[in-house]
Amino acid sequence: MGNCFSTSSTSTAEISPLDLAVKPPPPAAQTLPPPPRLLPLTPASATSVETTATATATSNVTVKLSGPSNSLTTSYLRFALLHKKLNLRFIPSSPDEKPTIQIGSEKTSGSKDVLLRYVEEKFPEPRLMIWKFNLEGFDEGTPLIVKTIWLQHRSVTWHVERMLRWAEDLAARGGRRAVDRSVGTPKMEIRKFVRSYGQLQEVLLEHAQMEERILFPVLESVDRGMCKSASEEHGRELPLMNGIKEYIKSISVMDSGICSEELFSLASRFRSLQMMCKSHFEEEEKELLPMVEAAEMGKEKQKKLLNQSLEVMRGTHTNGFDFLLQGLTPQEAMQYLDLLMNFGDPDLISSFTSQREIVD
Ligand SMILES: [Fe+2]
Repeated sequence: MGNCFSTSSTSTAEISPLDLAVKPPPPAAQTLPPPPRLLPLTPASATSVETTATATATSNVTVKLSGPSNSLTTSYLRFALLHKKLNLRFIPSSPDEKPTIQIGSEKTSGSKDVLLRYVEEKFPEPRLMIWKFNLEGFDEGTPLIVKTIWLQHRSVTWHVERMLRWAEDLAARGGRRAVDRSVGTPKMEIRKFVRSYGQLQEVLLEHAQMEERILFPVLESVDRGMCKSASEEHGRELPLMNGIKEYIKSISVMDSGICSEELFSLASRFRSLQMMCKSHFEEEEKELLPMVEAAEMGKEKQKKLLNQSLEVMRGTHTNGFDFLLQGLTPQEAMQYLDLLMNFGDPDLISSFTSQREIVD
């Protein structure tokens, strides 16, 4: 990511496992993870070498995964293990080491496919569905860019919901310290809130830019005027997002302390953002994305569009990548990684992974 909130303190493979382990398929708002007084925003994974996901583990077996932190393969394996709801311990290794999975005293190394088959054999349920790209409602013929946009919408939807819950929780506490001490003082918590919002804003901005520069021109070329409404909505989202940013900033520098009134107002702004995103995403998914399929693009054209989209969203796929994946279920995160690993230009993808800032 390119702004001041962009530096991620976790690597792709170290992404907050607790968040992922407890997160249900979106957009079931009533079962979203609780706000930070119950779910620390700086999980153990951000600061320690080893991390453990135990929230909804269905097995008492602890599985150790080691591999390079910024490798997409390591990340993929990690999500596969989280999907299996296993107790997971991740141990980052040097960049030239192959990923290894250890169950008890048994250690297995190898390619992604070898390790996935091994995991599937050891823990058959829930199934990984690794041999078929399987997104609900989509099939093999669904254009790559449609799958990409759909998954990005899911992630943004979850993050907006999470920030709304967080703002409501802050307001209910009246600016008082969170129950979870690891969140820090109210000022420290607001700083974390600012950082998280910066990440969300960057993903949303890049997503909108990607659609305007890549998706809309393709659709406009087959039917002029088709994207007018979606473009106008993007124009309305920007002032709302900037307004929230300025408002959070003004709260964070209040000398008199943070009070409920400002925080309730902040929550209400997030509610507006949530409603705007929801209706905008629904419109795009119902009205525009089916038209991409109707445009009957060949695989090469689809790959080109996907890679152009990824290039526009460089920040999201470098230091914002953990944030993007954090908003997806493990299964969805694997599907997103599948898109990058199977159809992404290798030079582009390696430029993303090499740009990522890894902080141990
Ligand atoms: Fe969109």
